[in-house]
Amino acid sequence: MAIRPILTAPDPRLKAVSTAVETVDAAVRKLIDDMVDSMYEADGIGLAAVQIGEPKRIIVMDLDQKDGKKNPRHFINPVITWRSEEIATFEEGCLSVPEIWEDVERSARIKAEYLDRDGKKHEIEADGLLATCLQHEMDHLEGVLFIDHLSKLKRSMALRKLQKAKRLKDAG
Ligand code: NI
Repeated sequence: MAIRPILTAPDPRLKAVSTAVETVDAAVRKLIDDMVDSMYEADGIGLAAVQIGEPKRIIVMDLDQKDGKKNPRHFINPVITWRSEEIATFEEGCLSVPEIWEDVERSARIKAEYLDRDGKKHEIEADGLLATCLQHEMDHLEGVLFIDHLSKLKRSMALRKLQKAKRLKDAG
């Protein structure tokens, strides 16, 4: 088990476009284990590999940890194959944008394809929080943060708040 530090905005490494995983091998599974450990340690519900400085198309997620039972999900090379016209709004946060929570509009339902940690292909139809979380994490693979979906004004306010929180943390 290895907990890895999570990059925070405006770290330029978060802007990298992640590359596809060619072979799901032991190194990939080790990276996935590190991602899961790092996500739980940071009390997150989702994490993309690029957030720990590994620009590979891998996402981990756990949307139902409430009873202390862990149920991590892994998505390798995820691709959205269909989106609903219907839009849903969720208040989003991100481990790479700490302390900031803002409403973001995304497709209410999606279909996606991905590989699991054994390299097996799956198709998923998602709605609600899962659909939002998948789209949020898949944005990370393109170097996009949820604050990039906000208006220019809201985005710069969020970044200022983030810088201030960072300064306080460094000072304290
Ligand atoms: Ni995020």
